[in-house]
Amino acid sequence: MPQTSSRAKAMSLSRFRSPRIFLLVYQRVAAHWRAIVLLLILASVAFLVASSDEFGRFELILLALLLIFIASQIFWLGRFVDVGERFIPGRPRRVWLAIMTVVLYLFVLLDSYPEWGLGHTIRAADYRPQSVLIHAAFWWWFVGSMSAFVLVIAFGAADRVVRAAGWVYHKVRTATHQQSAAADLKAPQLSSSRRRFLERAAVLVSASPFLAAGYGLLYERQNVEVVRQRVRLARLPKAFEGFRIVQLSDIHIGPFATADYIRRCVAITNGLEPDLIALTGDYICWDPEAQGEVVRVLAGLRAPHGVFGCMGNHEADVGIEDSITRLFAAQGIRMLRQERAPIRLGDQTLNLIGIDHGNDLAPLHTREVEGERRLQQLKALVIPNTVNILLIHYPHAFGDLELGIDLTLAGDIHGGGQLSLDFIHRGLNLGSLMGVPYIRGLYENGGEQLYMNRGIGITGFPIRIGARPEITVLELTRET
Ligand SMILES: [Fe+2]
Repeated sequence: MPQTSSRAKAMSLSRFRSPRIFLLVYQRVAAHWRAIVLLLILASVAFLVASSDEFGRFELILLALLLIFIASQIFWLGRFVDVGERFIPGRPRRVWLAIMTVVLYLFVLLDSYPEWGLGHTIRAADYRPQSVLIHAAFWWWFVGSMSAFVLVIAFGAADRVVRAAGWVYHKVRTATHQQSAAADLKAPQLSSSRRRFLERAAVLVSASPFLAAGYGLLYERQNVEVVRQRVRLARLPKAFEGFRIVQLSDIHIGPFATADYIRRCVAITNGLEPDLIALTGDYICWDPEAQGEVVRVLAGLRAPHGVFGCMGNHEADVGIEDSITRLFAAQGIRMLRQERAPIRLGDQTLNLIGIDHGNDLAPLHTREVEGERRLQQLKALVIPNTVNILLIHYPHAFGDLELGIDLTLAGDIHGGGQLSLDFIHRGLNLGSLMGVPYIRGLYENGGEQLYMNRGIGITGFPIRIGARPEITVLELTRET
């Protein structure tokens, strides 16, 4: 009998203990959730750093962006819970609101994007209106929420610095005036008007990135700018004085750079009366099926000395370099693939060269044999004592090789990763942050010049801020 009684007691205790233990664990987790999340993130970082063979600046920045993204999402989910707690009738418990918000967030995130590209951003080759809408909304939220979070943190830090300075000033002032010890201990209090001002400023600060992301999505993404750039080439033949090359780059046909939009760019280009048109790669986003359509649209380009181009990394990534070259050739557009084309005016000549993205000499410093082969290949295309113009998607080795290339035309970076505050300070853009040396505009190195075009299309997020799509008119001259 006593045995039965103790077993029953133990069972009833375990029944009683389970919910209590659960409650205790929940209370501990709820009380220390920030520390737990931080520890998990630090553990992941330590694992990534330890398991990676090469952990350079690029990976570090990607990791930092990932951490900012996670922190920003936790921050904004917290704000949603705050709003729900305030406005949902019946004042539901915070924990249930938090669980519902997280579940809803994960559902929208995972349901919207079952396909996450490996090594790339989310793929967008789906033209269905609902897919385009979800894709646009996701990226608007992604860019807006991260930037707003960074601004809110900076704003909060600045406010704390100002308050700390005020506190120090107050201490010094009371000490020098030898006021009472009690008065010394009192920190200056926020007045209600100052608090209201700070609250309004915080709302404005956090709302502005969402507005900017909306502007970049709906307007700046297709607000094409015609950039006119004079390029001085000391040995330019006289016949080519004022020769106009119009450059188009990074077309990226897709739901956010449609055939109609590209047709508009083609019309603008033709209206600029180019002598020659140069295309510097990335004709598609990720969908190989789109190659036929982009070629059909670009077939409308007209220039008396022809339309020439080179391959981009997107053509190489999906393996369409040969097929799109054939499609272009059928329309009279010549892709230069480790080739040169003489451009003649009377008896004078320019030498136009094009090389593939995969042959861009990037591995020159890492794979010596292959790099040397490519270097010799490019050397053989350069004609001495002639103006050599190189079309290449990204110029990794610009100015390093002293090959006698006068002008390089390139693209790839979309004016600094499509997000740029260069108008505030040069170099304040996503590309420079990632350590990319050439971003936009004209560069000079060792007597060679490079023009970096911002492109007309987008990849990844369908947003451009401070990096308008660009069509460039390069006017060649011998004059200073
Ligand atoms: Fe591109």
